[in-house]
Amino acid sequence: MNKTEAENKLKDYGQEHVLKYFDEMSSDEQTALLDQIENTDFSVLSHIGEAGKGEGRGSFSPLAAMQLSEIEARRDEFHDAGVKAIKEGKTAALLLAGGMGTRLGSDNPKGMYNIGITKEVFIFQRIIENLLDVVHETDTWIRLFIMTSEKNHDATVNFLKEKKYFGYKEDRIVFFKQDMAPACDYNGKLYMEEKGRISTSPNGNAGWYSSMVRAGLDKILTDEGIEWIDIFAVDNVLQRICDPCFVGATVIADVSVGAKVVKKAAPDEKVGVMCLEDGRPSIVEYYELSQEMMDAKDENGDPAYNFGVILNYLFRVKELAEVTDDRMPLHVVEKKIPYIDEAANLVKPTEPNGYKFEQLVLDMIHQLDTCLPYEVVREHEFAPIKNPTGVDSVESARELCKKNGIEL
Ligand code: UTP
Repeated sequence: MNKTEAENKLKDYGQEHVLKYFDEMSSDEQTALLDQIENTDFSVLSHIGEAGKGEGRGSFSPLAAMQLSEIEARRDEFHDAGVKAIKEGKTAALLLAGGMGTRLGSDNPKGMYNIGITKEVFIFQRIIENLLDVVHETDTWIRLFIMTSEKNHDATVNFLKEKKYFGYKEDRIVFFKQDMAPACDYNGKLYMEEKGRISTSPNGNAGWYSSMVRAGLDKILTDEGIEWIDIFAVDNVLQRICDPCFVGATVIADVSVGAKVVKKAAPDEKVGVMCLEDGRPSIVEYYELSQEMMDAKDENGDPAYNFGVILNYLFRVKELAEVTDDRMPLHVVEKKIPYIDEAANLVKPTEPNGYKFEQLVLDMIHQLDTCLPYEVVREHEFAPIKNPTGVDSVESARELCKKNGIEL
């Protein structure tokens, strides 16, 4: 793209200020900015009017989870089916590590955070050690995709390389970068993070599939006959990944996606709850739960909306191609966005100052036909690290690690 083409594109969206410093930039910087303008989808900016309005949800009804008692009773059957699928190379793992981890407040990628007390125990290490348990049990090097973003890619790759991938086999790991979306102020004007760079942020936790396809990695899925992908968050240091029972239960249930869920700690706990929305699988956010839904009971007299998601899903690959970008709603999220001011000084705001645009995995689920919510024991599998202290923090995760016999 040349300067005139960039000017025309920016004019269409009322963003001419992006080229304010163009003429004083080096030719490399100019090329980089022109590339960014060419590759950025500015149409997202037309969504700012939807900020804070919610998505206009459909009609909710309960979706029964497969609970621990049933899983226990059928453990051998599920386990054998899962081990078989893993040994046949049909199952891959995908680590979502593109997020910014702003709440944790570390400048490094979240996975580099050391939660150890008497020794180093990095978040990435915990995750990889969990996956290694299954590798050793099944004697199979599960294909591991790691999604980063342009903001944390080099740091992530260098760190894992330096740590020798915590024992994982290098040639079974594939890194790819998540696509970015531009960020703007409350009037829809793009922020600049440098004179020659538009502020961007990763496009949400549902960005993984389209980003993977854009990176050409769907070829690996086809070439290696991968039929299932277990996607999981970087920050839950206890979760089991590709665990055979979960894989087996999902395969046997013959659903489009399996979702690990935990029993809610209280009716109003702040977690998204698995349900049906207009008859399709979906997730209702805690703030969308009406009193009536909180009081609703299933046939056993237990709360009908009782299982929260933990961002660990096993997607069947063949349905993913139908989950297309343009059917996915865009979430306009208020955030703190670093930017350069009129005098080109970098400002790191302490309060939200504009919007980012994200696609969320819950909307992927809603496009699929069937889902198996699969209960896991909260104390054994749910230790998310979102904050330095308090709820879902380094402190709470350390306690849970100790309870599970993990030395820190
Ligand atoms: P969170 O929703 O907790 O976001 O991500 P975050 O960016 O890590 O943290 P905050 O909100 O800024 O404090 C849940 C999981 O989804 C991944 C994160 O890396 C984490 O594993 N994620 C999130 C992505 O991979 N890409 C995104 O665009 C957003």
